[in-house]
Amino acid sequence: MSASHLLTPISLHKRPAAVQAHTADAPGPRVYIETFGCQMNEYDTELLRALLKKRGFHFTAIGTEADVVLFNTCAIRENAHNRLYGHLAEFKRAKQERGVVIGVLGCMAQNLKKDLLAERPFIDVLVGPDGYRRLPDLLTDALEFRKRGMAVDLSESETYDDIVPDRTEGINGWIAVMRGCDNFCSFCVVPYTRGRERSRDPKGVLDEARRLADQGVRQITLLGQNVNSYHYDDWDFAKLLVSVADINGIQRVRFTSPHPKDFPPALIEAVAQHPHICRHIHLPLQSGNDRILERMGRCYTQSDYLRLVDAIQQTGPITLTTDVICGFCGETEEEFQDTFHVMQAVEFQSAFVFKYSERKHTIAARKYPDDVPDPVKGERTNRILEWQKQISAKKNRSLYGQSVEVLVEGHSKKSETQLMGHTESNVTVVWDQSDTPCPVGSLVPVIVDEASASTLFGHPVHSGRRFKPVQ
Ligand code: SAH
Ligand code: SF4
Ligand code: F3S
Repeated sequence: MSASHLLTPISLHKRPAAVQAHTADAPGPRVYIETFGCQMNEYDTELLRALLKKRGFHFTAIGTEADVVLFNTCAIRENAHNRLYGHLAEFKRAKQERGVVIGVLGCMAQNLKKDLLAERPFIDVLVGPDGYRRLPDLLTDALEFRKRGMAVDLSESETYDDIVPDRTEGINGWIAVMRGCDNFCSFCVVPYTRGRERSRDPKGVLDEARRLADQGVRQITLLGQNVNSYHYDDWDFAKLLVSVADINGIQRVRFTSPHPKDFPPALIEAVAQHPHICRHIHLPLQSGNDRILERMGRCYTQSDYLRLVDAIQQTGPITLTTDVICGFCGETEEEFQDTFHVMQAVEFQSAFVFKYSERKHTIAARKYPDDVPDPVKGERTNRILEWQKQISAKKNRSLYGQSVEVLVEGHSKKSETQLMGHTESNVTVVWDQSDTPCPVGSLVPVIVDEASASTLFGHPVHSGRRFKPVQ
């Protein structure tokens, strides 16, 4: 997987019918939002929708019908920037023809600030992740007075705790439990785009989780840039995770992204033992070489990481996935081999593998030359990806004939006659619709008949313990 699920643009063309119906006769300005980047951005778009709705804005799933076009952006790698520029070019024409208001929100707005407004004079509004409360006013000024505006101050306390996200229906829900990051990994732009780390009051998080359960959500993902460093009074992340998993009606709880430095035994125990916490940990490695890890500012060595993997695996079958960066400043072939070595030692279920991309303002950009040639970065990335693909396929094929428990999510992307869901390890499962009822939101045992590196294909079990009814 070279393109991370964290970085898939979410096209509103695919929004469910309910959203489109809601906008059909809308009298107020109509807003089209396109979201890029990680799940935190998807969650932020739900917050933005709530803030805008309260002020009389409406939403459309069709960009060409909109009065306001908003892009909630990502700055993590250069290609995230390029993707936005492509989309902006499309809407620049709409601005010339119909005078639509164009807003750039999120991490890129925060990272580039005035430079972006100067370079792209057709952008009307620029708002960073801590400035969303100002968006309705800035849009109103832009619509009524053609006034350009910007809100890019970072805050040390903003958590939007009082805003109820405006989510679309479905069985998957997200909750941001903390925002920002204080780790300053040298390659990473996030501490500059999302500011200082701050955790939400657990009461707000649990209220939100209960509300999601009442709305029919069956799987909750707790989000934070460094989610396991969550702390609020005497609450740590393990306590929060267990409390969310205890909520009636929630079948599965996941979390992303944790940092390997914050893994107390209580957190590993919770993942290993709580029946509603998925036994899956995404454990970003980044590099397996000590000198590179030190340069990256990751606060662990190869052996620290492997010790943590051991501690996790000793508690039982917990699936591990990871993120890796290839070609970081000064990385030699031998140092890259250390990363490969860790990949081989651990055999992750899957991995997101990225070419290092230098980001403005970061410690690495200031301190180390970006000196690994692009083709070398690409070749190392492909070498790991190719190898990982085989491991993922091997692991998936080892499930042939076995029953896996799947949370049913709906029709598969490719066909209305197929259903899909995910295993506890977060592997996609697809099967043909049959007489066996598989209601959305239920847990269904599926026998695996076929597998690729990314997907299991199977058929639901026709006997006895067919479904765990949703409570
Ligand atoms: N908070 C998470 C990372 C979020 S960013 C963590 O600490 O693990 C998601 C992934 O993008 C990172 O894990 C890293 O592998 C990748 N990434 C971040 N900055 C990058 C850069 N400058 N170049 C290439 N990949 C990068
Ligand atoms: Fe970036 Fe490191 Fe923070 Fe993750 S922990 S968001 S990689 S600075
Ligand atoms: Fe991208 Fe910002 Fe998320 S940089 S990955 S949208 S935190």
